[in-house]
Amino acid sequence: MRNADLIARDLKSVWHPCTQMKDHESLPLIPIKQARGVWLEDFENNRYIDAISSWWVNLFGHANPRINGAIRDQIEKLEHVILAGCTHEPVVNLSERLVEVTPEGLNKCFYADNGSSAIEAALKMSYHYWKNHGKPSKKNFVNLSNSYHGETLGALALGDVALYKDTYQPLLMEVLTAPSPDAYNKEAGETDEAYALRQFEAMDRLLAEKHDEICAVVVEPLIQCAGGMRMHHPIYHTRLREACDRYGVHLIADEIAVGFGRTGTMFACEQSGITPDFMCLSKGLTAGYLPLSAVVTTDDVYNAFYDDYETLRAFLHSHSYTGNPIGCAVALATLDIFRDDDVINANRHLSRVMADSVAHLADHPNVGDIRQHGMTLAIEMVKDRKTKEAFPWQERRGIRVYQHALTRESLLRPLGNVVYFMPPYVINEEQIRHLAQVASEGIDIAVKD
Ligand SMILES: Cc1ncc(COP(=O)(O)O)c(C=O)c1O
Repeated sequence: MRNADLIARDLKSVWHPCTQMKDHESLPLIPIKQARGVWLEDFENNRYIDAISSWWVNLFGHANPRINGAIRDQIEKLEHVILAGCTHEPVVNLSERLVEVTPEGLNKCFYADNGSSAIEAALKMSYHYWKNHGKPSKKNFVNLSNSYHGETLGALALGDVALYKDTYQPLLMEVLTAPSPDAYNKEAGETDEAYALRQFEAMDRLLAEKHDEICAVVVEPLIQCAGGMRMHHPIYHTRLREACDRYGVHLIADEIAVGFGRTGTMFACEQSGITPDFMCLSKGLTAGYLPLSAVVTTDDVYNAFYDDYETLRAFLHSHSYTGNPIGCAVALATLDIFRDDDVINANRHLSRVMADSVAHLADHPNVGDIRQHGMTLAIEMVKDRKTKEAFPWQERRGIRVYQHALTRESLLRPLGNVVYFMPPYVINEEQIRHLAQVASEGIDIAVKD
């Protein structure tokens, strides 16, 4: 098999996600034959460092022997069983472990099979909670500007990235939007913390005014990933938690992308010292192996649904593959690796190397910002460093970085003008420094006229 053979067959029958398929007339697909550790390999012995962890999911490398072993063991015992009326060891073990590792007070786990469906479940649970408490007028949700929560209609409605949302606007429920604490927009001389507190004032006013009609506020703690890896200070969520308590509104933390160590702590909420009412998890939950998601919530929420059947207060929501045993076994192996290898501490060193490796770009005339939370680092390319004027999106300069990186054994996939690294945690120093070098070269190429 040659690369070209698979590409030709692919284009006859596969429709790729988040892709203008016509782009593949000039941008060839990358056919991946196999992968190991941080390396993706094609059919002609080219290899690429997976700098974006295959859409932010992979944690411990491809073909990880411990996770492969967990799949082999589980598949011999039980591949799947309906989770309504039945239970199994992997789902019980995983629920116990998630209760243990998530912030204090999150005690019940509900499962789905991808990030968007976890968001949908949390939205329905929150609305239904208030209805069960005799408050059906609470039916609105609050989001932040530039947020992203997935592509199904409910999750898309909750997002605020025009590129994904505008086309479908007529199909979407209305939401209330508060301004993001995104530190990129702070005034010169203002700290991230001061900006987050200033931005919080609008959220506080919105909740004060409309809390009677609001079920929940939904946030991506610390990093708005799909919104361009925009970052903010944890104080925002500390204040938000207090305000949600004050006004009787749920707080839904979407940790689908940032959970499992991406921001330097196991969960981003830890840095704000808070427990949300719902924490949505996916992606790193299975270390990039299988589709699985969880909504972890409180006893208070669970108890609002617990009653005689005839009261019709139950959460009658399901997916066929809810709590899939192989997915749960992989998630358990993932949590074992976190514990046994002290991963969060080990990552501190890698984050420092990441910061150090791009420090030389700080004065680059076309770099408007370098930002980092733990194992996620982003570099914002701008037309003018002083004014932060952006390159027009139509110029698609990020693609030039992507194309250059492929010639240098690296898969970087900029979000618009934002080049970022969100690598598997098995990456080593030398590989990080290589990525930084490739990104610098790519940026120099991309900013030329
Ligand atoms: C913060 C956040 N929420 C939700 C989702 C949706 O997850 P999925 O793609 O698994 O539906 C994503 C996906 O990137 C995400 O980044």
